[in-house]
Amino acid sequence: MEIEESTPKNPNQGSNPQSQSHDNTSKPQQIPNNAQNNNQTQFQQTQKIELDPKAIEMLKKYQKNYPIKEYTYNDEVLHLPTRYKPGEIIGIGAYGIIISAVDLGNNNQVVAIKKLKRISDIIDLKRIAREILIMKYCQHENIIPLLDVIIHLNKDKNMNKVADVYLVMEKMDSDLQKIIASKQELSDEHYQFILYQMLRALYFLHSANIIHRDFKPSNVLINEDCTVKLCDFGMSRGIKEENALLTEYVVTRYYRAPEVMLSSHHYTKKIDVWSVGCAFAELLSKKFMFPGDNYIAQIKLIIDVLGTQDLKDLDFISNSSAKSFVMQFQNIPKKNFREILNCENPLAVDLVEKMLVFNPDKRYSIEDCLNHPYLKNMREGIEDPVFNGKINLDFDDKNITFSLFFVFLVKEISSFPTGLVVA
Ligand SMILES: Nc1ncnc2c1ncn2[C@@H]1O[C@H](COP(=O)(O)OP(=O)(O)O)[C@@H](O)[C@H]1O
Ligand SMILES: [Mg+2]
Repeated sequence: MEIEESTPKNPNQGSNPQSQSHDNTSKPQQIPNNAQNNNQTQFQQTQKIELDPKAIEMLKKYQKNYPIKEYTYNDEVLHLPTRYKPGEIIGIGAYGIIISAVDLGNNNQVVAIKKLKRISDIIDLKRIAREILIMKYCQHENIIPLLDVIIHLNKDKNMNKVADVYLVMEKMDSDLQKIIASKQELSDEHYQFILYQMLRALYFLHSANIIHRDFKPSNVLINEDCTVKLCDFGMSRGIKEENALLTEYVVTRYYRAPEVMLSSHHYTKKIDVWSVGCAFAELLSKKFMFPGDNYIAQIKLIIDVLGTQDLKDLDFISNSSAKSFVMQFQNIPKKNFREILNCENPLAVDLVEKMLVFNPDKRYSIEDCLNHPYLKNMREGIEDPVFNGKINLDFDDKNITFSLFFVFLVKEISSFPTGLVVA
């Protein structure tokens, strides 16, 4: 298929699959109000994309003609350049499957390929762009490297233009969720090493003014040698993107910071600290720290462990009914973290307590966590790099059309081995 012209149409039409439940753990999800009118049928109907004539002209120079093969996994069809020899499914994501593959074009390196389901609108495209740009520009030992990006522009049976995106990444052995579920015995040194690497990745991201926003064990990839690499940046945001919380925050509730639930305006890097605290506590105890079945249960569980909060520590809650909801929990004593975590090392317990502070202003930052004595042995002689490149994730320009954004993304991925393939 050659890129050809179609009638320009409002690119903002269509539903938002971002608002679908974003979890692969079958844990309960809270769907925010702004997402409740989403339905699958609408999503199915809007998978075709419209590109205006100017965009089509601009795309021609990036178009590659690599041979493509089609593969079917359950209901999922993958179109991949022949340099990739696909293997088994290694993950089921919210937007598609993740398979292992061998890269015949690069010394048979084993890779992971994540299919992001058919692009349907500009909201999708921005999510995908964030995920790609973060992995492309944030190169760090503890962030999963992006090796190739494939945008496959195709036509469906009704001759509508459709586009799928594939992210080719270094393949890791497992993820932290699986390690926790396996109840594998780990030493205190392992715990330190895992925590240190998770914090290091976030320290780097935060130095780039990016908040991960969906930090949880399944997004922490891990190898047998305990090397950790953070993945899944689809929910990440630049710190300046102030509307982000209000518009599309659908992350897993268990790891959600109090301010995310109680105050839509309080939007800082500290939300990641809370999530690491929950994930690390879960790793130590092999139990979810705050497994709330719903919004209210979630807040209750948190206060049940942290105890009644001082009034002055609730200043961050701007919504008065949210504030009175929290204030009704009186005379609840703080629980003993050592017992909850079932952990012998008092330094580990102390650090978790400092990550899981209700008031975000009093909660440790990632840097504070790294400087905590628990990680002293890990850090000796090792540098924790900060980001010193340039990355702009501020896509909030309301005037940008789907077509223009598509061209922007194609340009960004043209530096990868494959890039845009047109069938
Ligand atoms: N590079 C990788 N190597 C090994 N497993 C991976 C890799 N990327 C993803 N996975 C597996 O797939 C799961 C889902 O991937 P993720 O990027 O988190 O997608 P989603 O956005 O749908 O959550 C992960 O929890 C992990 O188990
Ligand atoms: Mg994930």
